[in-house]
Order: sequence, then structure tokens, then C-alpha cells
Amino acid sequence: MRTYLITGGAGFIGSNFILYMLNKYNDIKIINVDALTYAGNLENLKEIEKNSNYGFVKADICDNEKIEEIFKNNDIDYVINFAAESHVDRSIKNPEIFAKTNILGTVVLLDIAKKYWQDGEGFIEGKKYLQVSTDEVYGSLGDDGFFHEYTPLDPHSPYSASKASADMIVKSYIDTYKFPANITRCSNNYGPYQFPEKLIPLVINNCLEGRDLPVYGDGKNIRDWLYVEDHAKAIDMVINKGRLGQIYNIGGHNEKQNIEIVNIIIDTLNQILDENDVRKKYISDKLIKYVKDRKGHDRRYAIDPSKIKDEIGWYPETCFEEGIKRTIKWYLENEEWLKNITNGEYLNYYSEMYE
Ligand code: NAD
Ligand code: TYD
Repeated sequence: MRTYLITGGAGFIGSNFILYMLNKYNDIKIINVDALTYAGNLENLKEIEKNSNYGFVKADICDNEKIEEIFKNNDIDYVINFAAESHVDRSIKNPEIFAKTNILGTVVLLDIAKKYWQDGEGFIEGKKYLQVSTDEVYGSLGDDGFFHEYTPLDPHSPYSASKASADMIVKSYIDTYKFPANITRCSNNYGPYQFPEKLIPLVINNCLEGRDLPVYGDGKNIRDWLYVEDHAKAIDMVINKGRLGQIYNIGGHNEKQNIEIVNIIIDTLNQILDENDVRKKYISDKLIKYVKDRKGHDRRYAIDPSKIKDEIGWYPETCFEEGIKRTIKWYLENEEWLKNITNGEYLNYYSEMYE
């Protein structure tokens, strides 16, 4: 039975990954380590919390002692590091925590995995560390071209700079110690359980509440949207088939301007909501409000995913039309989940950020 140490498994992508893996395999063990910051939510994992192949440890990845204890008590085969501060706008206001968690936390994980996986001069066969990174480390594109694995790193926000730094640390372990690792760099994910500070769930939530839909700048910035379950599948495949030391870009081939996304959400909600739903009265493009642009706002991200397709056979299966319908339906069916997290701290964040 292979044992996975998943960090940040109570967040958006981490929890989707855990659900995907435990639904797919019944012969793996998952240990989820999460500090439960504002973005971590154990509600996401209710479906599997009693699964005997799953365990949760509340810990900060910067806490050497707690991380070491997990390695001491378990024979960890794979580490998948999702844990991070992940929101660009928060990084612009408060960069320090991004450096701590995203860079120092990565060093702690690498160092302890290296210690427990070492076998003489090399490493025990079959062990692997996977760093979940982002296409934002490549910076911003003009009207054409794509990010390739060999595109030079040129991060602009404190968030992307911290992720690029973490990637460089992982690379240094690969180059110096021949440490068994992969780095994956994915584009913007969307799907169930995403915290409503990010564009898609924020717009869904604001539509449902009849609030303004804040669009930064001219609304023409482009992101390459990837359905989160496709991402989970890609990570599983990289763990199993990725060549050690390699970087793999994971993208949806699905570029959209932000304003298009906002209009698609408005239209889809109006299609899905019941004829008599009172919210239909106010969900329209009249809610759109152009607001001050984000500082240093990257213009366009777009990934060339041909390496992962050619080497590993992964491709994005979910088209945006289908993925966004599934996502919106999920939020409609889980309004309680949304209400529980849009109280308290979220309201302070929202008013500080947008009002
Ligand atoms: P998220 O913010 O939803 O979740 C992050 C999780 O990490 C939370 O559960 C949080 O409690 C936990 N965490 C934060 N600091 C921690 C610490 N010090 N110790 C232990 N746990 C800690 O993020 P996400 O959107 O799920 O992103 C997961 C990973 O994927 C991140 O590394 C992010 O950089 C990367 N990524 C995300 C996207 C995206 O579109 N969401 C795109 C590219 C890459
Ligand atoms: P976001 O979901 O924060 O992801 P990232 O910054 O990592 O790409 O933002 C996606 C895009 O949407 C980005 O171009 C910024 C824009 N955006 C808005 O226009 N309004 C908003 O309220 C938010 C949160 C984002």
C-alpha cells in the first residue's frame, strides 16, 4: 500500500485531489497535513473523513518537528505539496506570509523527505516529491505564444515570485542531490470547493447575492482555465509516469478574457436557475462593475501542454462549457458551504479589498 503525504489537502485543489484519489484507488493511504488557514476547510473532505485509508494532521509545513514526526511514524512514498498561500491580491497586501509558507515550507518538506528517503549515496527506489506550481512563474504573455517548460521564469507578483523561488529550491535539490522530484505548473483551476476570493466563485457568489461583479481594469486579461478534476488526474499521472527531475506544464487549452467568464457565469446561472427563482430578476450584466486594476496585473497566461500529452498521455477532458455548468450547479447545491465561509473573516477581507 503506497502512502501519500498531501500538504494543503483542505484547500481547493488539494481536497479535490484527495477525493479523486480515494474514489479511484482503495489500496492507497493518504495523510493530509494542513494548517487550516482561512483557505483550509475540512468540510470539503466530509465524504471521506471516515475512510480508513485517510488521516488528517493539523500542522504548518514550516514546523520541522511536526513534519518530521509524520515521516518517523509513517513510511511515506510520495509527497505532493499543495500547501501555499495562493491568492495574488493578498500577496500584494501582505507578502511576508507568502515567503514563509511557499518558500520556507517547501524547504522544510524537501529537507525532511531527503533525510528519510536517503539510501547510501542515492534515494530509495520509488519515492517521489511533487511540487505543485503555477504558470504564473513564467510571467505574462503578449497577444500570442504559449508558456513552455523552458520559458524563462519572470514572476511579477509576490505570490508568483514565492512560487518561482520554491521551484528553484526544488530544482536545486534535483541538481545537487539527484533528489527524486517533479514540478508541475498548471494554469488557473476552477471547480467545486474553490474559495470565493478567486474570480469564478466570487462572481457566482456575488450573482447569487445580487452584489456588484468587480472586473479589474478593462476586463480583457486572459487566463487559461483548467477544470480541477482534470488537474487531479494529471497529478496522479505525473506521480506514476513522470520522468524524475522533469517539469510538466498542465493547461486547459482554454483561454478566456475575464469579462467573457463573467458573462458566461451570468448566462449559465440564468439557464440553470428555476423559472420562479427570484434571483433571476437581478442576475444580469447590470451587476458588472469595472474597478481599479490590480497592481502589476499579468495580461495573459496560456500553456502549451504538449509535453505532458506526448510523454504521459494526459489531456484536458472537460470543455469549459461543461466544466462551468458543473461548477455552478455544485455551488447552487452547496449554498450552505458557501454561506459558512462567506461569514466572518471573509466579510472583513471583502470590504477591505473592494469597498
Ligand atoms: P488554497 O488557498 O485553496 O489552499 C491552500 C491550502 O494550504 C489550504 O488548505 C491552507 O489551509 C493550506 N496551507 C496554507 N498555508 C499552510 C501552511 N503553512 N502549512 C500547511 N498548510 C497550509 O489553494 P489552491 O487553489 O488549492 O492551490 C493549491 C496549490 O496549487 C498551491 O500551491 C497553488 O500555488 C497552486 N496553484 C493553484 C492554482 C489555482 O488556480 N487555484 C493555479 C496554479 C497553481
Ligand atoms: P484570480 O482568480 O485571482 O486568479 P489569478 O490572479 O491567480 O489569475 O483572478 C483571475 C483573473 O480575474 C485575474 O486576471 C484577475 C481577475 N479578477 C477580477 O477581475 N476581479 C476579481 O474580483 C478577481 C478576484 C479577479
